[in-house]
Amino acid sequence: MSPVTKKFLLLCVLAVLSVNNVLGKVHVKITNSLTNKLNLTIHCKSKDDDLGVHLLHPNESFSFQFKRKFFGGTLFYCSFQWNNELRWFDIYKQTRDVQGGDDFNWSIKESGPCVTIVYSTQPFCFPWNPKLLM
Ligand SMILES: *[C@@H]1O[C@H](CO)[C@@H](O)[C@H](O)[C@H]1NC(C)=O
Ligand SMILES: *[C@@H]1O[C@H](CO)[C@@H](O)[C@H](O)[C@H]1NC(C)=O
Ligand SMILES: *[C@@H]1O[C@H](CO)[C@@H](O)[C@H](O)[C@H]1NC(C)=O
Repeated sequence: MSPVTKKFLLLCVLAVLSVNNVLGKVHVKITNSLTNKLNLTIHCKSKDDDLGVHLLHPNESFSFQFKRKFFGGTLFYCSFQWNNELRWFDIYKQTRDVQGGDDFNWSIKESGPCVTIVYSTQPFCFPWNPKLLM
């Protein structure tokens, strides 16, 4: 490899690493927006982390942050429980959310979760994950 090629490759590696640092941490906030003053119990996990069980009273929030994986594939999934309902949702999925910025404010409603991101004035609403057949 010529010295010029080496230098160019080194610059590319540094550029990729610094982009990754600039992107920094992802912030996720989950708010209980159920109607009728219902309590919401959430439990979020990834392959490597268990964020624990949290009881959210009406309008209360739970926040967490993490660093994206360098090669994609970050996934945090949560269970949501109220009354006799148990639902699941992928709260952060790198393939879906990587272009949504670093700040995700989720409102949990009976009909499903809605997210507010910096790039949009309108929230985006999603269906729950399909119920597992077990
Ligand atoms: C919500 O939880 C609190 C305890 O943290 C309890 O006092 C209250 O009765 C619960 N509300 C409902 C609607 O279950
Ligand atoms: C929750 O927040 C909404 C909107 O800000 C408000 O209308 C509602 O009264 C609040 N509910 C409770 C139980 O504080
Ligand atoms: C999310 O909520 C926080 C307040 O808890 C606020 O500072 C931030 O701007 C909100 N982000 C978005 C994308 O709405």
